[in-house]
Amino acid sequence: MNDQLWYKDAIIYECPVKSFRDSNGDGIGDFKGLIEKLDYLEQLGITAIWILPFFPSPLRDDGYDIKDYYTVNPIYGDIEDFRHFVAEAHRRNIKVIIELVINHSSDQHPWFQRAIKAPRDSDERNYYVWSDDPEKYKEVRIIFQDFEKSNWTWHEEAGQYYWHRFFHHQPDLNFDHPPVQEEIFRILDFWAAFGVDGFRLDAIPYLFERENSSGENLLETHDFLKKLRAYIDKNHKGVMLLAEANMWPEDSAAYFGEGDECHMNFHFPVMPRLYMGLKKMDRSPIIEILNQTPQIPENCQWATFLRNHDELTLEMVTLEDRHYMWDQYAADQRARINLGIRLRLARLMDNDRRKIELMNVLLFSLPGTPVLYYGDEIGMGDDLTQEDRNGVRTPMQWNDQINGGFSEADTSLLYLPTVPDPEYHFSKINVRKQIDDTDSLFHWTKNLIALRKQLNVLGRGDLQFIEVANKSILVFSRSYKSEKILILINLSDQQLDLRLDVTILGTNKIKELFNAHVYPIDEDKVLNLELGAWDYKWLVSG
Ligand code: NOJ
Ligand code: CA
Repeated sequence: MNDQLWYKDAIIYECPVKSFRDSNGDGIGDFKGLIEKLDYLEQLGITAIWILPFFPSPLRDDGYDIKDYYTVNPIYGDIEDFRHFVAEAHRRNIKVIIELVINHSSDQHPWFQRAIKAPRDSDERNYYVWSDDPEKYKEVRIIFQDFEKSNWTWHEEAGQYYWHRFFHHQPDLNFDHPPVQEEIFRILDFWAAFGVDGFRLDAIPYLFERENSSGENLLETHDFLKKLRAYIDKNHKGVMLLAEANMWPEDSAAYFGEGDECHMNFHFPVMPRLYMGLKKMDRSPIIEILNQTPQIPENCQWATFLRNHDELTLEMVTLEDRHYMWDQYAADQRARINLGIRLRLARLMDNDRRKIELMNVLLFSLPGTPVLYYGDEIGMGDDLTQEDRNGVRTPMQWNDQINGGFSEADTSLLYLPTVPDPEYHFSKINVRKQIDDTDSLFHWTKNLIALRKQLNVLGRGDLQFIEVANKSILVFSRSYKSEKILILINLSDQQLDLRLDVTILGTNKIKELFNAHVYPIDEDKVLNLELGAWDYKWLVSG
C-alpha cells in the first residue's frame, strides 16, 4: 500500500505531553515520561500520536498561546528530548502529529511585543490585525462566549484595538501581511526537519478577515492552504495536514480543496449526532448528517472522534438540538461551557460499558480515521471543579499508587489534581488493573483497534445505508475492492429482533467479528438475529 496515504488506515491517539507521565517528579508530564509510555501505546495498537502544543507559552490556553515557535517549553524537556521522542515513536511504527497554531500567537510573543511598540502601518505592527474602530468586522461571531465579549481588545500602548478570535491574550496573526506567511513556512520547515509526520492546523478557518463577512472559510484562507500544501508537496512530501475546521459539512469538506489543501479534516458535524442518535434511540441524526456530507477526494480522509481536549462542541447543531443535548447530557450546569459540554466519554455514557463500546464501534465503523482521546480507552472520568476545559485534562491514571502512577511529586505539586470522584478515582480506574483483567475496557479497545487494522475496508471503503424497519437500528455496509462488511448498531436500550437481507455479503455463511460467531443463512439470504440493548455487530462473509 502507498505509504504516503498512511493516514487513511491510521488509528490516532490524542495526547497532551503534560498529562501523560511525569519523569522528573515536578508534577508535570514531559517528553521523557511520554517516551517511557510508548510501549503502552504500542501495546494498545495505535499507529499515530497527536501531541498537543509543547512550545514555550504562558499557558493561559494550555499552550495554544505560543510565545516561541522554535523550541520546547522547558517544563516538558528540551529539543533533544523531542528528537528522541520522534525516534522512539518511529521505532515502534507510530507516526507523530504535532500542532501548527498559526491563527494567533500569545500576546507574550516577541512579534506582538514588537508590534505594540512599532509605528502604525509599519511592517512590525502589521504582523497582527489592528483597528481604530471596534465595530469593524462586526458580523464575526465570538467563539469563547463564556470568556470574551468582543473580538477586539484595546491596547493602551499601541493605541489601537487588536483582533482575536479566541482569548484576548491570543492576538490573531495578520495573514494579509506577506512576512507572516513566510514565518509560517519557516516554522513548518523547522519541525518537518525533525521527521514529524503531520501537523494539526489549529483554528484554520479564521486566518483572514474581510468586511461584510463572517470572517470564516474565506477564499483567501483556502488560497493560503493551497500554497501551504503545494509547499509541503514540494519540500516535505508525505507530511500530512489535518484541519481543525469546526463547520457544517459543506464548509468543512472545502478544507480538502480538490485534494490540494488538507489531507485530513476533523468531521465535527457527525460527532454530536452520534450522541444524539444514541440518546434519542434513533438513527436519523446520523444518517442525515452523513447524507449531507459531500464526497471527498481520493487522497483525503476525515478524522472522526468522540471526545477531545476541548468541550464537546455544539456549535454545529440547531438551537433546538443544542438544548436537547444540554438537557440530556449536561443536566449539571457546571458541565456546560461556551456552546458545549465539558465531560469525558465515560461520564457522558453514565459509565455504562455497553454504551461506551457502542459509541466506539460507531466511531470505528464510519468512514474516516478514528482519533481516540487519552484515558478514554480505560474509561477515565473528569473533574468539574476545575476551570475551563481543564476537567478533561487531568493526569493519566496508570496504577493505584501515589498520583495514580502519573508522578512521584508531592500531590500538591501536580499541574492538576487527579480525578477525585470515587467512581473514577485511580484506585478504581487505572491502566495496570485493566491490563491485568482481560475483560477490561482497555483489552476491549485494544481488540477493536487490532480488528480495525485488519480491515482496510473501514479506512478506505464507501458507505451504503440499509433500510430496516426499526429506527433504533442503524445498518450500513462498507465496501472496498472485494472487501465488504455489514455493520449493525442497536441504539436502543431494548433487545430487538432483526431480519436482514445479507445478499450483499454473497455467501451462505456469515461471521461476526467481535465474537467469531458464525451465522447460517437461509436460501433467501436472510439473516435472523437478536440484538441486545446497545448491541453491535460487524458481519463479513466467512
Ligand atoms: C482549538 C484548540 O483545540 C483549543 O484548545 C484552543 O483553545 C483553540 N483552538 C484556540 O487555539
Ligand atoms: Ca516533569
